[in-house]
Amino acid sequence: MFEKLDMAPADPILGLSAAFKSDSNPQKINLGVGVYQDDEGKTPILPSVAEAEKRIVSSATSKSYLAIDGTPEYNRAVQTLLLNEDHEIIRSERAVTVQSPGGTGALRIAGDFLARHFPSARLWMSQPTWANHPKIFQSAGIDVQTYPYFDPSNNGLDFASMIEALRAVPAGDIVLLHGCCHNPTGVDPTSDQWEEIADVAGEAGWLPLVDFAYQGFGDGLEEDAAGLRALCRPGQELLIASSFSKNFGLYRERIGALTLVAKNSEAAARGLSHLKIAVRTSYSNPPAHGSAIVAEILSDAALRSQWEDEVAQMRARINGMRRLFVDTLAEKGAQGDFSFIARQRGMFSYSGLSDEQVKRLREEYAIYIVGGGRINVAGMTGANMDVLCTAIASVL
Ligand code: LMR
Repeated sequence: MFEKLDMAPADPILGLSAAFKSDSNPQKINLGVGVYQDDEGKTPILPSVAEAEKRIVSSATSKSYLAIDGTPEYNRAVQTLLLNEDHEIIRSERAVTVQSPGGTGALRIAGDFLARHFPSARLWMSQPTWANHPKIFQSAGIDVQTYPYFDPSNNGLDFASMIEALRAVPAGDIVLLHGCCHNPTGVDPTSDQWEEIADVAGEAGWLPLVDFAYQGFGDGLEEDAAGLRALCRPGQELLIASSFSKNFGLYRERIGALTLVAKNSEAAARGLSHLKIAVRTSYSNPPAHGSAIVAEILSDAALRSQWEDEVAQMRARINGMRRLFVDTLAEKGAQGDFSFIARQRGMFSYSGLSDEQVKRLREEYAIYIVGGGRINVAGMTGANMDVLCTAIASVL
């Protein structure tokens, strides 16, 4: 049977990490996968995480299964970080959360749930979006469509086209929105624009599905939740796929969550019963370690404030690298105005580099960038900036 298989293409993002690993060039630079690195090029274990792990390991008494939806402590911590403790949605218990293996796992559980119960619903995603988005939902059997998002003429949001397209999305379809730090463009709606998106969701009757993987990497943990919270109006239903890979640096622990917000607590409970079936028929129940770390940190005031400082430090380093990148490109005589890069938010910069230029950077300089020109700013360091900007200036 397997003789007949063709070779599948490598993943456009994780495949790049594998190719980078096997590159023997000592000056190689990985600006592909969205993983934070410090100024020494290392992806650290956050000190708050290390402390939480110590406590968890010393107090653990069992390796028995968790419940299908994970632990109540973790699920409550997720909701309060997303919405804030006193939010109407939390008070009225119209949100339910299942722990998931990363943000990707949350998206796939959402896809399986939607495909099963709303088989004629189409899912609309921004053009462009994270390369894995269409594949996850198509694998779940969902018809994927796109709406305009990015305006290459000013490297900003094409809000007029976006909102016009969203107005035309039929009731009962689903619209995938990036909660903050849009991947790959780094371009987000303003708070007024989020309000308008929320108006349109309510009027048109489509379901928002918010992918929220970078909370804290844009302007702050609270600030970055503003778009999501704008959508959380009384009576509005939504799905939220969130991840702690980036803001806790827990990439390999695969820890995220899917939150379903219904009109009332009874509908939410029914929603949860179906999400549990989606989990049980996919991976049965979640792993414990990552959720224990997150719950420990978010429930301990001192550890939580330490973690908030650590997120702020990561954010400040990324924004510092953005500015240095723009300045160094100018210093190297790179053709064009790259000041827009300093305005983008989150880990990524949508550089405007063509696929041909991306290919040359990889082949001639061992600089790894995702096709489409998305650059992981968090992979830049004071030490590699000069080499990087010289190379980019030479291929432009
Ligand atoms: C990325 O976009 O690089 C990250 O979300 C990691 C991934 O899984 O692709």
